[in-house]
Amino acid sequence: REGPATGLRRVLLPAPRSFCAGVERAIEIVERLLDRHGPPVYVRNQIVHNTHVVADLEARGAVFVSGLDEVPERALVVFSAHGVAPEVEREAARRGLDAVDATCPLVAKVHAEAKRAAEAGDTVVLIGHEGHEEVVGTMGVAPERTVLVGHADEVAALDVADPGRVTFLSQTTLSVAEVEGIAAALKERFPQIKGQGAEDICYATSNRQAAVAAVVGEADLVLVVGSANSSNSNRLVELSRAAGVAAHLVEDAGQLDRAWLDGAATVAVTAGASAPPRLVDEVVAALAALGPIEVVERVVTEETQEFLLPQRLRSPGRGA
Ligand code: F3S
Repeated sequence: REGPATGLRRVLLPAPRSFCAGVERAIEIVERLLDRHGPPVYVRNQIVHNTHVVADLEARGAVFVSGLDEVPERALVVFSAHGVAPEVEREAARRGLDAVDATCPLVAKVHAEAKRAAEAGDTVVLIGHEGHEEVVGTMGVAPERTVLVGHADEVAALDVADPGRVTFLSQTTLSVAEVEGIAAALKERFPQIKGQGAEDICYATSNRQAAVAAVVGEADLVLVVGSANSSNSNRLVELSRAAGVAAHLVEDAGQLDRAWLDGAATVAVTAGASAPPRLVDEVVAALAALGPIEVVERVVTEETQEFLLPQRLRSPGRGA
């Protein structure tokens, strides 16, 4: 392989990487509420799966809780980007909370599909990771009609009321290749199943995977900036390793291990959709501090997606 000039480390930056439109929207919802109402603004669960984002908002007065019972009556509470089960919305109403929904519109779309399929009498097979907040929320749309599948080898044991009436959906932040494999197994077992391959995987997840896939063949090491509980970030690490390249998930530049860089003439640096761009800049700066680097940006896809804020927050300004 053709490497950079001796002694010069090449740093490849596949694009897109870092924040997606759903994450930007969720953070902006909390920021605008803090501006308008002042602290505290309660947020149910991490607004997005990134410890830096959560710590920054906490410093400005956001209070993260894991259950609505921790929120005082009538207080303002934000639902995170991962979405909530309808039961959580009902609980908020019962407690008289002022709830603002920061669910990503692409997660909300999957909820709507689950609702439609269940109301039409189908069993919903959700492809996803057990316990992930998005999966908990989507399962909660039609809990009595939804079953979860995490791997293709679980398809044979799925318990479905009527094999002729099944719809499959997926978590938005999975590996495209993995979901396609599970979808193929589902179609084999339930030939009449409704659902299309990996189409519920969001544009941000699939674009970040495609961007890493485009550069991984040139890299000796892939660094993915993201938190340990970030699904789409972990998929980027897996994809790199599956291509035979060493890859590590790092929360920030502080987690860089110099031993990883031994013999790594070309390092690709990317970030999951919940990781702020400045953390990538800091990792690049940390690499530069270890010796001369040449930074090469590789734009694989241009992203233009934007999502509107909830109606009540669209006009900037105080005192809503
Ligand atoms: Fe939404 Fe995908 Fe981002 S579901 S929050 S656009 S990672």
